[in-house]
Amino acid sequence: MTKVITYGTYDLLHQGHLNLLRRAKELGDYLIVGVTSDSFDRGRGKLNVRNNVLERVEAVKATGFADEVIIEDYLGQKIDDIQKYDVDIFAIGSDWEGKFDYLNEYCKVVYLPRTEGISSTMLRAESQDVFRIGVIGSGRIAHRFVPETKMVNGAEVVAVLNPEKEKADAFAKMHGLEAFTEFEEFIQKVDAVYIASPHLSHYDYAKRSLQAGKHVLCEIPFVMSKEQALELYRLAEEKNLVLMEASKTAYCPAFGHIVTLVKSGIIGDVVDVKASLSKMVPPPTRELDAAQAGGAMTEHAPLTLMAIIKLLGIDWKDVNFHSRMENGVDIYTKGVLNYPHATSSFTLGIGVKTEGNLVISGTKGYIYVPAPWWLTSFFEVRYEDQTKNKKYFYSYDGEGLRYEIQEWLSMIVNDRRSCYKLRRRESVAIAEIIEKYRNKENVTEI
Ligand code: CTP
Repeated sequence: MTKVITYGTYDLLHQGHLNLLRRAKELGDYLIVGVTSDSFDRGRGKLNVRNNVLERVEAVKATGFADEVIIEDYLGQKIDDIQKYDVDIFAIGSDWEGKFDYLNEYCKVVYLPRTEGISSTMLRAESQDVFRIGVIGSGRIAHRFVPETKMVNGAEVVAVLNPEKEKADAFAKMHGLEAFTEFEEFIQKVDAVYIASPHLSHYDYAKRSLQAGKHVLCEIPFVMSKEQALELYRLAEEKNLVLMEASKTAYCPAFGHIVTLVKSGIIGDVVDVKASLSKMVPPPTRELDAAQAGGAMTEHAPLTLMAIIKLLGIDWKDVNFHSRMENGVDIYTKGVLNYPHATSSFTLGIGVKTEGNLVISGTKGYIYVPAPWWLTSFFEVRYEDQTKNKKYFYSYDGEGLRYEIQEWLSMIVNDRRSCYKLRRRESVAIAEIIEKYRNKENVTEI
């Protein structure tokens, strides 16, 4: 019996896939089809796949050509599969000509003619309008946002708003956009808005954008109070719009995996979470300006609290803070957030340097994520018996904003208002803790 194996994503299954599978089947007696897992595709930068792995597996089965369907989940798996299934022929479309010659050591490699004029990429592009995104604010993060958007299909940044004309013009020139200084004119030119303006303007811009019927992705810190967060999410719901907090780490593949591993009990009951984030900033800068809501807490609490809340939930019972102040701004804050059956702490610095790692301690073991944990690409699960330790490596591509952008667009396209990666109630809980701090509740100066 001649065994043939082939691999692909098979998103939005099309005639090109059918032809390829038929030809592959004709090469032998038994055809194994490897369908890529969602995380494998994400890991290799394929962020726009529409059908999830189950849908894609079903579609391949429905063609009737596959005798067996397997999941491709890691780099190098093809060599394992070929040996494990005793495969005679590896077949793949001619767009991969030469790329898999290294498999000749294990079986015969055949490149089959690719069907011209069709691909999943084409189908995805045809089925979706391109969203015109407008950026509010033209600071550092906005500069990083524009190129990251290019990594995600279906969206294009077209405009920038900054009340200071020179800044708007310079940003627009650099990224090839239209510049605006007036909100009313700007908002008419876009379908969705990314807010990266100074902290204190987030609420107002988000509200006006939603009122104008536009989807919103808002940078951290989202807003400065629980009430503001609730009001904005209510407004978005009412208007049937997507409002999302741009908590980038929440959407990156490695962090998502940490959360699912913890929830599946791999380290037992979580008893303590320690998250630190420190980035020194030289003056003068808005981070050190009290009038612009600067400070370690507003800068760095959103990501660290996101991690704690994703792991321990929103039902915390008390919180206290210790801060070193300078010119009315906390250059270092340590907070302790207690839960009925767990505790957590966060250390945040903009004028004090500390190790920026994340440690999640449980009754069976702990997870260690080295600095900078918020750009998660590696973590280790550790136990008393070190032979059971396991390291996990992930890619964290580019500036890492592409993951949140992709999620935001996916929510818009698929008409989802809530995302499990960062629930609205979790975002509200983060705003509430920041509000308590700004109201000086349980804050001790050191
Ligand atoms: N294929 C083909 N003819 C096409 C499209 C794909 O023969 N017009 C083949 C590929 O060469 C590969 C298999 O189908 O062997 C699965 O490819 P996949 O990457 O899933 O499909 P694409 O349509 O190329 O997807 P994308 O546009 O996302 O790259």
